[in-house]
Amino acid sequence: MIKYALLRIFSCYLTTILARDKEVVAVWLSILQDRCEIYLSKNSDWLDKDNKFIDNITKYLKNISKNAPAKSEDNERNFLVAVTLYCSTKLESRLKKLKDDIEFYGDDEHVKSFKDFFSAKVGDTNNTSTITISGVCKEYYKKIKKAKVESRIPSEFLRHIKKVASYMVSVIGIIKCARNIQYKSLFSNVQVFKGGPVIINNHPIYSWKNIIKRFIDEDKYKCFMDRCSEMPEVMERISKVYTDNATRKQQQLDGDDVKKYICSHAQMNILALIINKGIKSRVFIAVFKRCCYLCKLYTDFARKQGYNIIVFEPQFFTNYAFDWKYMKICSEWQLPHVEDNDFKARSLIYILKNLDQIIEKKLKHYTSSLSANSSDDNIDMYIKKFSNEFEKFEKYTLLP
Ligand SMILES: *[C@@H]1O[C@H](CO)[C@@H](O)[C@H](O)[C@H]1NC(C)=O
Ligand SMILES: *[C@@H]1O[C@H](CO)[C@@H](O)[C@H](O)[C@H]1NC(C)=O
Ligand SMILES: *[C@@H]1O[C@H](CO)[C@@H](O)[C@H](O)[C@H]1NC(C)=O
Ligand SMILES: *[C@@H]1O[C@H](CO)[C@@H](O)[C@H](O)[C@H]1NC(C)=O
Ligand SMILES: *[C@@H]1O[C@H](CO)[C@@H](O)[C@H](O)[C@H]1NC(C)=O
Ligand SMILES: *[C@@H]1O[C@H](CO)[C@@H](O)[C@H](O)[C@H]1NC(C)=O
Ligand SMILES: [Zn+2]
Repeated sequence: MIKYALLRIFSCYLTTILARDKEVVAVWLSILQDRCEIYLSKNSDWLDKDNKFIDNITKYLKNISKNAPAKSEDNERNFLVAVTLYCSTKLESRLKKLKDDIEFYGDDEHVKSFKDFFSAKVGDTNNTSTITISGVCKEYYKKIKKAKVESRIPSEFLRHIKKVASYMVSVIGIIKCARNIQYKSLFSNVQVFKGGPVIINNHPIYSWKNIIKRFIDEDKYKCFMDRCSEMPEVMERISKVYTDNATRKQQQLDGDDVKKYICSHAQMNILALIINKGIKSRVFIAVFKRCCYLCKLYTDFARKQGYNIIVFEPQFFTNYAFDWKYMKICSEWQLPHVEDNDFKARSLIYILKNLDQIIEKKLKHYTSSLSANSSDDNIDMYIKKFSNEFEKFEKYTLLP
């Protein structure tokens, strides 16, 4: 159905051009009778230049749509310029990766063919504007896709070609949608809403010990911590999670006054909006980066309650399969603010149940060979035993 295709692709384009640097942006498009509403959410505050940019491109979009099917060159050019300037940091960092690939895979026949293609397109390769390179990558990708040689190209190189291309793809794609007279009423009356993150700087949390002690007793806790302390990467993560945001000091693992910076994730802000509005028709949420484990759990829960939510990433032409290896449990995550207290309470129970299972499983790994009375004098043996287990360890990251 054309409506769904439009929703999907258009929110992909927007997510790409709105991620200025490292932030995560989520986009939800809602099509009403006479207009399109765009909801944007980010995991950091909207700055003045973000607001300016969004105002500008909204204006260009409206004008392009109003003038359709006539071309409005000025608006199209202004739109392209605004996007190129706004995304320059991200685009340049992607270009650098592509450049590294070209050097690394210098002898590969496809990399060579790209170099030839590029030179032929731009002439003076010394001095090419970033957005032009994006455009050439778009053309090049089209060519190799047509030739069906994708699978023979170094995958890193191909991925970076697509990422660089995504800017020109998005600009052209957005203009094309706006110029389509079929969508005139949607885009000439478009309305944009922005939601910021909910940030709490000193949120009280349970201590590390408090949590672990719910699963194992005092003796085991001591042995468990001895083991942890033998592993720098574990201690580093613990320290990172329990370091006070303001003082930069690590808080006590058994303290009763532990605080934490927490921040709502971009995808969750939009989900909360959809739940508060009670929208159970199908919605697409485009998110610039793969969502974390807690976002996934919460979204799964919402789906079980009848919300028809489809989340996807706009990595252009790139479909990531779901993979536990990349799943992160983010310690700064915050439960979305939904008005329905029953929903809220049940979602919390659902998430905690899943988290408890993970903690339990992890603790079993760490303590399975420990007896209640094991003492310091035979701890070496356990560490040895343990390091073998660690090799077999499974895939997700409990603490970021
Ligand atoms: C927005 O547009 C104005 C002119 O219309 C321009 O001066 C300004 O730089 C633009 N800002 C952004 C962030 O695109
Ligand atoms: C965009 O549309 C507005 C309102 O119709 C108009 O005032 C403005 O001049 C247009 N801008 C351009 C660049 O066409
Ligand atoms: C590119 O720059 C190098 C030196 O910086 C120069 O030797 C070469 O002629 C330049 N190429 C072109 C096409 O201008
Ligand atoms: C690129 O072009 C600009 C002017 O357009 C010039 O100042 C600069 O030196 C050129 N850089 C290279 C590497 O040729
Ligand atoms: C807390 O950390 C976040 C990001 O980690 C940062 O943006 C924020 O400014 C910090 N707040 C304080 C008070 O240090
Ligand atoms: C305590 O340790 C002794 C020897 O070190 C062992 O024989 C005994 O089974 C252990 N007790 C438990 C409960 O594991
Ligand atoms: Zn998340």
